[in-house]
Amino acid sequence: MKGSHGSIDHERLSGGAALLEHADGLADALSLALDEASSQPLSTRLYHSLREWIQAGRLASGQRLPSTRQLAHELGLGRNTVLAAFDQLLAEGFLTTRHGAGTFVADLPFQQAQVNASSDIAAPRPVRAVEPLLSSRGSALLAFCHARQEPFSAFVPGVPALDRFPHGQWLRLLRRHQQRMPAAWLSYQAQGGVPMLREALADYLQLSRSVRCRPEQILIVQGAQQGFELIVRLLTDSGDEVWLEEPGYHGAQACFAAAGLEMTSVAVDGEGMNVEALARPGSPRLIYVTPSHQYPSGVTMSLARRLALLEAAERHDAWVVEDDYDSEFRYAQRPVAALQGLVENSRVIYVGTFSKVMYPGMRLGYLVLPEVLVEPFRRANARLHREGQYAVQAALAEFITRGHFSRHVRRMRDCYSWRQALLRKALAPAVARGLRLSEGQAGMHLVAWLDAPEHERILVERARSEGISLSPLSGYYLSSPGQPGLVLGYAGTVEAEIGRAGRWLAQAWCDLVEG
Ligand SMILES: Cc1ncc(COP(=O)(O)O)c(C=O)c1O
Repeated sequence: MKGSHGSIDHERLSGGAALLEHADGLADALSLALDEASSQPLSTRLYHSLREWIQAGRLASGQRLPSTRQLAHELGLGRNTVLAAFDQLLAEGFLTTRHGAGTFVADLPFQQAQVNASSDIAAPRPVRAVEPLLSSRGSALLAFCHARQEPFSAFVPGVPALDRFPHGQWLRLLRRHQQRMPAAWLSYQAQGGVPMLREALADYLQLSRSVRCRPEQILIVQGAQQGFELIVRLLTDSGDEVWLEEPGYHGAQACFAAAGLEMTSVAVDGEGMNVEALARPGSPRLIYVTPSHQYPSGVTMSLARRLALLEAAERHDAWVVEDDYDSEFRYAQRPVAALQGLVENSRVIYVGTFSKVMYPGMRLGYLVLPEVLVEPFRRANARLHREGQYAVQAALAEFITRGHFSRHVRRMRDCYSWRQALLRKALAPAVARGLRLSEGQAGMHLVAWLDAPEHERILVERARSEGISLSPLSGYYLSSPGQPGLVLGYAGTVEAEIGRAGRWLAQAWCDLVEG
C-alpha cells in the first residue's frame, strides 16, 4: 500500500464528509480506510468503503473512477483485489461502465438528498424517526398482544408440567424418525400432515373424545392458533361477525381482531355460552366456543346449550369453532364428549392442540374439518403456511400408537389433580374468609373470583414483586368492566412453589379484606 501517508491531508479525509472528486483524493482516502485494523479481506474492505461513500454522496453520481490498474498501483494492491471490489459494485448497481470510457458512479436517487450541491460538505442527514406504520389490522392485533409474561412459574396459566415430560423417551423416538426420514419429507408436501399421525389421531379422537372423523378430515397445523388463523382466512371477510364467549381466550380474540371481524361477546353462565340470551339479531359467520372446559371460567357446556348452539349455527349458516384445548384433564369423571360428535354432519370445526399434553414449543395442533372444507383447507394451508415437521409428526404418531400418549395423560391427570389439591390447601385460609374458587373439576388452572376491581389490581401488582404471576380475570373480557378475579395456573408450577406462592396469596388476600 502507498507508504507516503505524510502527504495525505488526514484532517480533511478522516472527517468522512468531504467529496472525493479527484482520483488522488480517492486513493488517499481509500489508503487511510485500508490502514484501519480489520480481519476482512482487502477486496471486501475496498468494496465496503466505496459503497459507503457512494451511498453517503461523497462519490457523486456520474463521477468517473480511476481505472482498476491505476487504483491498484496507487494503493499498492494486486489488480485482482481492486477488480473484485469493482465487479461486486458493478453487479449491485453502484457502479456502471461505459464502453471505452471507464467506470462511473451510478446515478442513484439517494445521493441527491444527502449532498449539498453548493459545497463540498455533505448536508447533515435529516433525522427522521422510523415509524412502525402498522396497518389497522396490525394495530388491532397488538391490542391483544400483552408484553411477555415474567418467567415466573407460579401461576402462569396454560403451561403444562414440563418438569414431568418424558424427555428421554420422546427424544429417542424423535431421533429415530429423524434418522429415517424418507426423501419426500425433505420436499414440499400438501398431504395435510403425516398419514400415520392423522390415523393415530382419528382413532384417539373417536375413542376418547367421541369425535366423528376419518383420518382424511384431519389437517395438521402448527398449533391451535394457526388453526384459528386458517379458519378466519378461509371462512370470513373483514367486518363479518363472530360470536365468542365472555370471558374468553386471548389467542382467539387476537386472531379475530387481526382479521377485522366484528366480535360479539356472549355471556358465559353456569351452563356455558348463553346463546339464547343473545338478544341481538346478528348473523355470525363463526361461533367460537370451549364447551368441554370453558376458558377461563372452567364451566362445562350443558347438553341443552350444545343443542341450542348447533341449532343457532344451522340457522345462521355459521361455523362453530370448537376449541378443545385441555379436556384430557378431567378429574372427577371421564372427559365429556366433544360437541363435534353430537350430531352427524354438524357445522363444527374441531380444533385440537398438543401444547397441553405434550409441550407448547412443539407447535403442533390439528383441525377436524367437515367434509366440504377438507380440500380447500388443505390446499390453502400448504400455500399459506407450508407443511413441515414431518419427523416430529411421525414420532408423535408412534408416541400415540405405542400408548405413551395415554400413559402420559394419565400421569399428568394425577399430577395436576395433586397440584390443584396443594393449591387449594395453600389457599384454604383465604377460602375460610370468603375467597371463592372455581370448582376445578378439569383443566390446568383455577379461578379465584374477587368482588372489587381494586383488589384484583393490588394483588396482581404485589404478587409481581414476589415473583408470582397472577393473571387478572377482568382482562379476559372484551366489554368492560370485566368481572375481577385471578386465573391461577397450577399445572406448570412445581409443588414447593405452589406452596410458597399459594400461602403468600392467601395471606395477601386476607390482609386486603381484613385491613
Ligand atoms: C383456550 C385455549 N385454546 C388453545 C390453546 C392452545 O394454543 P396453541 O395450540 O396455539 O398453543 C390455549 C393455550 O393456552 C388455550 O388456552
